[in-house]
Amino acid sequence: MSRKVIIAGNWKMNKTASEGVELVNALKPLVADVCPDCCDVVVCPPFTTLSAVVEAARGSNIKVGAQNVHWAENGAFTGEISAAMLKESGVEYVIIGHSERRQYFGETDMTVNQRLKAALAAGLKPIVCVGELLADREGGNTEKVLATQLEGGLAGLSKDEMAQVVIAYEPVWAIGTGKTATPDVAELTHNFIRGTVRDMFGDVIADGLRIQYGGSMKAGNAAELVAQANIDGGLIGGAALKADSFSELIHNALKK
Ligand code: 13P
Repeated sequence: MSRKVIIAGNWKMNKTASEGVELVNALKPLVADVCPDCCDVVVCPPFTTLSAVVEAARGSNIKVGAQNVHWAENGAFTGEISAAMLKESGVEYVIIGHSERRQYFGETDMTVNQRLKAALAAGLKPIVCVGELLADREGGNTEKVLATQLEGGLAGLSKDEMAQVVIAYEPVWAIGTGKTATPDVAELTHNFIRGTVRDMFGDVIADGLRIQYGGSMKAGNAAELVAQANIDGGLIGGAALKADSFSELIHNALKK
């Protein structure tokens, strides 16, 4: 089964609007040769940078995502952003449940599930993040932790809704540390994730599901990771903050 690769840059809390436009303008010519049927190229800037980046990316093969979304349609939620607000600003994707949000901002599988449903209802394409802590892996609990995150996070979705979802597997111990899961370890874990989704949603959804790897992915290891049968792309932090490193990573990943 061949699935379209998806490489997304998670800019985290980096890049003002003008810096974001500069990055996208530098990236556009570098990825203009990436065939849109082979790969989705996505950048996910902070909220305040989104509109400027949507404008800068217009007419190119670069798509834009947000890094979070609130579950309510509107109301008294100071500091939050709704799915309709993102949709109207031209955003196509949204990252949900990143481990940094779970770690620092009290994100739970229940709130991931609420955000996911709001994003889907607004027609956004969610990138749902799962991943284990180092202690989980060392304690032999990786599969248990991932199954809990998937079952809670994806609870109550219809098959049609699940067909819109991308999963990002980001082992927390590999994020920003320079430590990458080996292709073998990542592949085994992606295979487990696909199996869990198969149990929940059936063969068609599981076979079509795109699962990104995230955690110190860079130009030097992207090809080997994306060459694995169950790794369909990457969610990139540090290496997405410069146009040349992000473009090199994308081109290497597509050499698989
Ligand atoms: P790094 O690529 O910097 O390890 O970050 C990965 C990540 O958290 C992407 O969401």
